[in-house]
Amino acid sequence: MPPVEKSGKSGTTFSPEEVKVVFVLGGPGAGKGTQCANLVRDYGFRHLSAGDLLRAEQDREGSEYGEMIKKYIREGDIVPMEVTVKLLENAMKEDIKDKHGKGSFLIDGFPRKMDQAEHFEDTVVPSRFILFFDCPEEELEKRLLNRGKTSGRSDDNVESIKKRFKTFVETSMPVVKYFEDEGKVENVSAVASPEEVYQHVKERMEKRGIPVKPRA
Ligand code: C5P
Ligand code: MG
Repeated sequence: MPPVEKSGKSGTTFSPEEVKVVFVLGGPGAGKGTQCANLVRDYGFRHLSAGDLLRAEQDREGSEYGEMIKKYIREGDIVPMEVTVKLLENAMKEDIKDKHGKGSFLIDGFPRKMDQAEHFEDTVVPSRFILFFDCPEEELEKRLLNRGKTSGRSDDNVESIKKRFKTFVETSMPVVKYFEDEGKVENVSAVASPEEVYQHVKERMEKRGIPVKPRA
């Protein structure tokens, strides 16, 4: 991966005036991807999924990180943060290079560990707020096992799911708590139908001053 030069005001790659970032968190299977697709359509965000970027890097021929990523994902552990932050930063740079450096991004499934959060906000750009999809474990497990029938993912099986839940509770929830204390979390219940959940998501966007994309 190429080095990234710093251009933001406080030593970050991007300035928060030009690059809007909303972190999207929630247990595995909470519906983050589904709701992000709605937000891309209506608000003009770009969607970057940390898990998808890691899976692409894992499968990329010649990647020096492929084997390591594979192992972490199968075990439901958090990949060392330098790799994930760099993949996100590169994807953001690629996306805004033809857009006068401006962009807005939903970063899905990130940050899942405190060091990822700090490293990203210190070196890439501070986030605007965090959209957190709240869902009980029984419901998440049901959804993941169902998805596992067709997803082809190495980690949508009972054993990996248990480990992912444990990582989520022990490692990722403290990140949500940290941002909550900063007043940066919008908590949305993810138990209802996707349509109902999206109604609540739209209310939170309005509350945070994110405008709907003008219709073409
Ligand atoms: O978000 P998703 O469920 O697709 O993530 C799959 C796996 O990718 C996680 O269980 C974890 O191993 C890895 N991951 C990570 N750091 C992130 C997001 C995902 O290590 N921020
Ligand atoms: Mg996902």
